[in-house]
Amino acid sequence: MSSAKTKVRKADEGAALDRILTLELARATERTAVAAARLRGRGDEMAADRVAVEAMCDELARLPVDGTVVIGEGERDEVEKLWIGEKVGAGRGPAVDIAVVALEGTTICAKNLPNSITVVAIAEAGGLLKAPDVYMDKIAIGPGYPAGLVGLDRTPSENLTALAEAKGRPIEEITACILDRPRHARLIEEVRATGASIRLIGDGDVTGVIHTTEPEETGIDIYMGIGGAPEGVLAAAALRCIGGQMEGRLMLDRPDKVARARALGIEDPRKIYGLDDMVRGDVLFAATGVTDGNFLQGVKFGRNQVTTHTVVMRSSTGTVRWIRARHTQLDKFEG
Ligand code: FBP
Repeated sequence: MSSAKTKVRKADEGAALDRILTLELARATERTAVAAARLRGRGDEMAADRVAVEAMCDELARLPVDGTVVIGEGERDEVEKLWIGEKVGAGRGPAVDIAVVALEGTTICAKNLPNSITVVAIAEAGGLLKAPDVYMDKIAIGPGYPAGLVGLDRTPSENLTALAEAKGRPIEEITACILDRPRHARLIEEVRATGASIRLIGDGDVTGVIHTTEPEETGIDIYMGIGGAPEGVLAAAALRCIGGQMEGRLMLDRPDKVARARALGIEDPRKIYGLDDMVRGDVLFAATGVTDGNFLQGVKFGRNQVTTHTVVMRSSTGTVRWIRARHTQLDKFEG
């Protein structure tokens, strides 16, 4: 082995996030996705979410890390499991921050519509923004553009014009992904006034943001609008690995939300966070499809086997692994 390679390997061995963790994370999201998928299309989003949270808790408990949930199901007094600040993991191994949404798109799962996923990211301790469970205004594009091409401090028209110019395409060929919510009426009007097209999604903006990284595949060039802050940090973790640009601003529109943010160390309620403010250092990201989508296929139940589709990424190497797994020992999926 060349000395350069030896050095790289040594550096990797010493890195806080072990390479082995990548596969461990995939196991966690796979099992969680299978649990949620059993309740897919049953119209009961609470039940699907509950089994996903339970499965994810069991899996995270096995991870060889000394983990702290910094993005989870909610705040300590509101939820029983995966609350912000909860210690998870086997207690040995590196100290890490964990961001987790056991079932992203509970309504999508309950209706068996596209793009429900289970998702988790792990960073070195202190590496993830401790965002309260509030809304976040977001804008994101994929890799390959000049830094700062789009931003939250510009109008939708300015952002779309800049993106169309950078792509060398007419603005009419640009598609923005936006959550279909009344709060976006003005944004939708402004985007349509430019001539750009909109893909309105019912839920699931982690996937919406990730879709901007493969516009040829997904047909989405830019993500715009307000969604959950936890989902914003998870999407930022994915973009830190795949590449792309994103900005987020917490929507701290009431004194109690400002106070919650302050308790988590956020002093400036109007701060615009870039990717590096939301996710620092080495980060691992894993997601498994629960329902079919154009990013991940959903869980498939076959005769004596279950198939899952997972993506695992690591920021320090930029590796993006797609794992199609066939599971035949089905007892591991029993509760
Ligand atoms: P679920 O809570 O049903 O999983 O919905 C997830 C989600 O659509 C996120 O993707 C998004 O960030 C957020 O909810 C938007 O919140 P709201 O539904 O309150 O507009």
